[in-house]
Amino acid sequence: MAVRVRALLLALCGLLAACRAAEPAAGAGGSSRRRRLSSEEGISFEYHRYAELREALVAVWLQCPAITRIYTVGRSAEGRELLVIEVSDRPGEHEPGEPEFKYVGNMHGNEAVGRELLIFLAQYLCNEYQKGNETIINLIHSTRIHIMPSLNPDGFEKAASQPGELKDWFVGRSNAQGIDLNRNFPDLDRIVYVNEKEGGPNNHLLKNMKKAVDQNPKLAPETKGVIHWIMDIPFVLSANLHGGDLVANYPYDETRSGSAHEYSSCPDDAIFQSLARSYSSFNPAMSDPNRPPCHKNDDDSSFVDGTTNGGAWYSVPGGMQDFNYLSSNCFEITVELSCEKFPPEETLKGYWEDNKNSLINYIEQIHRGVKGFVKDLQGNPIANATISVEGISHDITSAKDGDYWRLLVPGNYKLTASAPGYLAITKKVAVPFSPAVVVDFELESLSERKEEEKEELMEWWKMMSETLNF
Ligand SMILES: *[C@@H]1O[C@H](CO)[C@@H](O)[C@H](O)[C@H]1NC(C)=O
Ligand SMILES: *[C@@H]1O[C@H](CO)[C@@H](O)[C@H](O)[C@H]1NC(C)=O
Ligand SMILES: [Zn+2]
Repeated sequence: MAVRVRALLLALCGLLAACRAAEPAAGAGGSSRRRRLSSEEGISFEYHRYAELREALVAVWLQCPAITRIYTVGRSAEGRELLVIEVSDRPGEHEPGEPEFKYVGNMHGNEAVGRELLIFLAQYLCNEYQKGNETIINLIHSTRIHIMPSLNPDGFEKAASQPGELKDWFVGRSNAQGIDLNRNFPDLDRIVYVNEKEGGPNNHLLKNMKKAVDQNPKLAPETKGVIHWIMDIPFVLSANLHGGDLVANYPYDETRSGSAHEYSSCPDDAIFQSLARSYSSFNPAMSDPNRPPCHKNDDDSSFVDGTTNGGAWYSVPGGMQDFNYLSSNCFEITVELSCEKFPPEETLKGYWEDNKNSLINYIEQIHRGVKGFVKDLQGNPIANATISVEGISHDITSAKDGDYWRLLVPGNYKLTASAPGYLAITKKVAVPFSPAVVVDFELESLSERKEEEKEELMEWWKMMSETLNF
């Protein structure tokens, strides 16, 4: 057994182009400096440098190979892998009907808490699954969960290499090319704001621009990697973990008028407020109404119950959150986890305890609203069908197997499924808080309808000619 595990580990090391042995000496204090601060069921509450991050993910995979898989969505500017650990009962597969979730951490390389929480989360999911925790088993059986601890591994190495516990507020924020990744996405808000006034699509705005994205030299490799990831997997819900404040932030991040602070609601404002609260309300520090601002001059006037609209706080053009919503079916919020961006290692355990329930509860929100399949009358899936909700000008589309997920707050809705060449169908649905209501659609193709009409006409002629004897 031990031999086999070792062989697997070596194989994976090869795949990841080197584990610790092959890692170039990493800045001040390599991994040998380690004193184990505190460790609990395989979770070591300490900062993980790049090699250690890989080792921690591999350790989870070796412990829970049946429900995990490690993959990469590309490489950073300095060639580090953008690693993802997937947790699912069928790793590597989209199961028809099963929604996909993602967490992304450490996009700003110096905002380190999210990176560590996601490593701890992967280990926690594996541990609890093995212990038979029903909540976690149900979650993993019903959801495909993707966890990317670091979208900016280069920036993290730079931030972590600074000597001493006190880190500079900015060093390591950008990627190795000096690009702020959370300002680097195609600015689809500007397009949707024009479309709101002049008419035009309200979703999947990148559709005809994918090639332009690949060829755009201004996009960082990390940005391109994550754009492809967003395009390739039918994600429904995600969160982007940052640091420097303590709040759950929801779309839109960019203001309509271009002003620095302005509530910028998106068509799904109601569910986004609810999603943000589902995170903040389980975090005692974030939801504390008497919490003083993180820093003396911080303006927290837009914060409500530990949540804020992005634009109301401050306008962010080119961010990943709005890009998800406007280019795909994925609803994303941005969570600020800690007043300090790179707090002392001793505090990591406390951050885990404050965020553990939020991290799990937020994933569970993926099972709200309405879900189902869009098929034709023969039962074949219809991909790319549009699901629209009366009163909400943001459509979502069905995935490859005709499956769709439409997050909604409780209420009565009219849902319409349509696809080119088919007759649209509208259904009424009453949505409770959770779980998601199943609403399937069977669409009749227009050619089938024409055939039917032709046959009806023929029959009528036959009857008429028989009756009238001509
Ligand atoms: C199972 O996991 C849930 C979600 O993290 C947690 O709240 C609960 O305490 C766990 N149950 C046990 C028995 O540990
Ligand atoms: C759905 O639409 C996308 C984007 O326009 C396209 O790439 C894909 O091939 C379509 N899939 C099907 C099955 O029509
Ligand atoms: Zn940030």
